[in-house]
Amino acid sequence: MSPAWNKLLASADRLRGVHLRDLLQTKDRFESLSFSAAHLMLDLSRQRVDSQVFNELIALAEERDLRAAIKSLLNGQIVNPTENRPALHSALRMPQESSLVIEGVDLVSGVHETLAQMEKFVEKIHAGQWRGYTGRAISQVVNIGVGGSDLGPLMTCEALNEFRPPEAEGVDIHFVSSMDGSQLSNLLLELNPETTLFVLSSKSFGTLDTLANASTAIDWLMERSGLSRKQLLRQHFIGVTSAPDKAISWGISEHNILRFWDWTGGRYSLWSGIGLPIALTTGMQGFKELLAGAHAMDRHFAEAPYEQNLPVLLALLGIWNINFQDIHAHAILPYDGRLAHLPAYLEQLEMESNGKSVKLDGELVQTRTCPILWGEIGPNAQHAFYQLLHQGTERVMSDFIVPARRYEGRSTGLIEQHQLALANCLAQARVLALGDAALSDAEQRPAWQRYAGNQPSSVILLETLTPASLGSLIAMYEHKVYIQAVIWGINPFDQWGVELGKKVANDLIDSLRQQSCEGYDQATNGLLARIQKLQQEN
Ligand code: F6P
Repeated sequence: MSPAWNKLLASADRLRGVHLRDLLQTKDRFESLSFSAAHLMLDLSRQRVDSQVFNELIALAEERDLRAAIKSLLNGQIVNPTENRPALHSALRMPQESSLVIEGVDLVSGVHETLAQMEKFVEKIHAGQWRGYTGRAISQVVNIGVGGSDLGPLMTCEALNEFRPPEAEGVDIHFVSSMDGSQLSNLLLELNPETTLFVLSSKSFGTLDTLANASTAIDWLMERSGLSRKQLLRQHFIGVTSAPDKAISWGISEHNILRFWDWTGGRYSLWSGIGLPIALTTGMQGFKELLAGAHAMDRHFAEAPYEQNLPVLLALLGIWNINFQDIHAHAILPYDGRLAHLPAYLEQLEMESNGKSVKLDGELVQTRTCPILWGEIGPNAQHAFYQLLHQGTERVMSDFIVPARRYEGRSTGLIEQHQLALANCLAQARVLALGDAALSDAEQRPAWQRYAGNQPSSVILLETLTPASLGSLIAMYEHKVYIQAVIWGINPFDQWGVELGKKVANDLIDSLRQQSCEGYDQATNGLLARIQKLQQEN
């Protein structure tokens, strides 16, 4: 262990008996532990740290030379060595006048060419000029994708739905991801094939889930229209991918392809053509504001000192909780229903990135890495799993995410509802930290009405939820994940862990088709036999 790490271990011992209610007594605690940048405020005053631990975490950042790691990421070094490429999602949000030259090619001009092509698609669809096989304008767009090709655009479209410009009103956006066809089968009952456009979003254009849904979609169009696959693909399908050859061989027209690059990781791709559903929701202007918000966070990440750097601080406090406080569960709790899909989005971002146990040098990590993340809209979760947060045996760290202002110019009833959400957000963070100390009559209560508290949390306060503040929020989490990976010495940009399951599923699909139930372990053979028997009985 390094000197900075050892100091933190000693501090963890020193603070072992110290409760958050005591730490919250420190003078100017909120002022010294809350930080603002790019439309966000990060309040870390309910983390179990004192000023000494804060300084030791900054020393850890210095010891690990995070500044150099940040430069490597943003300048396009090979930070993903197992796939031999950089991770340049930040280049996707660089302004047109800037440049980033990698191996003699300016990536920014390519990015803006794609944005211009995306703009053409968006304008054509919004103007009612993208027409289906009977000449009627497209009014329904179905994004077919999974993982990063679904969760980012889904989360953002839901969050920014009220930013729809008038021209976007006539176009509904739907998302289909599940491999079993559940979402698609329901949707196809409602949609009119004449006015439906499918966007096949797949970085690899090889993901079975997406291709299975895409096949069902084209079969449905052919069956309902009686027209050829070729004509329907031309009028009713767009492909967004970094593998255009594969998209073309599947049948997507060359003119209907939005390309992106293999240096954009799937779970970091909403800023690329994968964001087409977002641009269809907010208009290009809104999409550009989202990019600008993320870019503002990129600049802050590159320039701010560690002591004020939001992604660095969020990462360091996570490290403190995971590696020094033994907390391995992390709840994501937005107090704004528009952020309903943020927990699922962050589950992929954090757990697919940092759910690793082998370091970049091939050695096993000696510390814990990514915790288990889960979450829900906060007020709903209060009626579901908060019981465990307040009185269970698990230590849990929580992120509360809430805008200060909402419903400006709307009814007093709605404004009051937002105040209610804010009050609950503040109340929960307070009670989780203080426990009984938030009560005036704790002593008179029976044991089952007592609260241990001491559960740490961060509050991320948005001025208001806009494309720009959402862009900053997402970029902050992306960079936090990178910083934690640097400290743990792991690669956050590959996902080899998900490959084996895909390979085994391919073998099993053959066994199911051929009605074979041999060649696997006992449990798998037994289930195959039972499933086949049940299928034959029907
Ligand atoms: O299986 C995991 C994964 O590769 C994710 O990383 C990715 O976001 C998702 O599948 C979808 O991949 P694609 O965009 O290539 O279809």
